[in-house]
Amino acid sequence: MLDLLIFVAVPYISIALALVVTPYRYFSGRLTWSAYSTQFLERKTLFWGSVPWHYGVILLLAGHAIGFLFPSAVQSLLSNFSTLLAMESIALGLGLLALLGTVILVFRRAFTGIRAVTEVADWIVILLVLNQAITGVYMGLFARWGMEWYLHTAVPWLYSLLTLKPNIALVSGLPLMFKIHVLGAFLILAFLPFTKFVHFLFLPFGFLFDPPILYRWVRDRRAKRI
Ligand code: HEM
Repeated sequence: MLDLLIFVAVPYISIALALVVTPYRYFSGRLTWSAYSTQFLERKTLFWGSVPWHYGVILLLAGHAIGFLFPSAVQSLLSNFSTLLAMESIALGLGLLALLGTVILVFRRAFTGIRAVTEVADWIVILLVLNQAITGVYMGLFARWGMEWYLHTAVPWLYSLLTLKPNIALVSGLPLMFKIHVLGAFLILAFLPFTKFVHFLFLPFGFLFDPPILYRWVRDRRAKRI
């Protein structure tokens, strides 16, 4: 029953919410489509939390995506044990970086001045990412070799979801930490259109389409005018 909830119901509800509510929010409340920055209130702790979190998680999510998109190529790469060990160690390092960043961000929310402007949605966001970091690092340490078994279990299960033939037998025997990790991932997707998570849909791509900024020195001209 719990497996059905985690591996079928929650994923489909989350995908539906993300697909329907995200465009609605974009067109109905364009000005709320943001991460509601608190940088102007507190920036020192933010730097030490946000930078490790983002560097860790962006590279790790790229790793998750590469495994999902090219399972056979990744499988042949990881069939060499030294490569598997190296990749797992890098992933663990990145996971610890993300975990450190998240713990600092939780501390910032709880104990600095921005506590006064912290809403329930901010706590949901931060606790969901903390959950991803804790359960991910746990698997990296105690459920070896995650990169390998991910390819034979989670990846085909994700494809089975996409083809509308969910096969939970592929993942129901996996450790509880994996189930909590997956539940957290889909809850992130479900909350995406309602919280500041939405910013990761535009921040990386917005940059690409920004008009180029032209910088000019004005000192010389002023000097001539004087
Ligand atoms: C359905 C989606 C997901 C699946 C199936 C999945 C699966 C996994 C697996 C199997 C591992 C262990 C890898 C290893 O042992 O090296 C892992 C690690 C990790 N995942 Fe996910 N993941 C998902 C989504 C996410 C999301 C959305 C985030 C972050 C927002 C995330 C963050 C992490 C982190 C931080 C690690 C730790 C890496 C390490 O320390 O080795 N995952 N994930």
